[in-house]
Amino acid sequence: MRVDLLAGAGYAAPVLCLRTPTILVFDSGLGGLTVLREVMRQRPDADIVYAADDAAFPYGRLGEQALVDRVLSVMERLVDRFHPDLVVIACNTASTLVLPALRARFAIPFVGTVPAVKSAAERTRSGLISVLATPGTVARDYTHDLIERYAAGCEVILVGAGNLAALAEAVLKGEPADDAMIAAEIAPCFVAREGRRTDVVTLACTHYPLLLPRLQRLAPWPVEWIDPAPAIARRTEQLLGPAQPRPEAASTVAVFTDGTSLSGPAHIALAGFGLARIDTEPLPL
Ligand code: DGL
Repeated sequence: MRVDLLAGAGYAAPVLCLRTPTILVFDSGLGGLTVLREVMRQRPDADIVYAADDAAFPYGRLGEQALVDRVLSVMERLVDRFHPDLVVIACNTASTLVLPALRARFAIPFVGTVPAVKSAAERTRSGLISVLATPGTVARDYTHDLIERYAAGCEVILVGAGNLAALAEAVLKGEPADDAMIAAEIAPCFVAREGRRTDVVTLACTHYPLLLPRLQRLAPWPVEWIDPAPAIARRTEQLLGPAQPRPEAASTVAVFTDGTSLSGPAHIALAGFGLARIDTEPLPL
């Protein structure tokens, strides 16, 4: 028996989904794996579709209207094919722009990933915090509104890293990624002023936690790096309810809109995230 009770506009109340839910986790590339990992930890029983719009990667360089149109058309195809009960947009660049259009178009709950400005403002002691994101995310009104609303008492440095998402993809695919290039991308996050220094950096692109050990090693001084993935997974569980006992293993699949750049090491990395089955849904940009 299928019993679904969807919450109303804004999905503030939990969705009661008594059968095993299908969760679609969506990103432009492999960064959403950092969110997927936490979602799978929270709901190990759920069937999972990990969808990467790699044909359009990186989203950080797309204009706003182009990005809205692109995400809507890819989502149309994915929803038709997989009928998810909930979609996690594991991409700040998309979430800070496209969520209202997605919620208007589809009658399923969407959980977004947006810069963790509030947590950063709560955790800083120096009052100097940095938001490390794609150029798209740092330009969004949404991001500026978050800062005004939650970090008015702090000095917030917005850093739009042009190449860091691609470097994270390279590392995951077993390709070389130069320390000096990574160091140059994160350098503007570190500010020292009047005896105070940046002490919190929020990772506002889901690709960046893939590089965390490198970021920690290359940072000019230690800071707290905030990864919002656990909070997103908790929100997902709040909407779907807790994990249910399930005799058989959950099904998982990774779907790519291009897929041609996936090397052997990328397959191994995907398997490490629990995604052994890889498929394509060709959608050239
Ligand atoms: N992973 C995405 C994010 O969280 C963006 C990477 C890209 O530019 O496509 O913003």
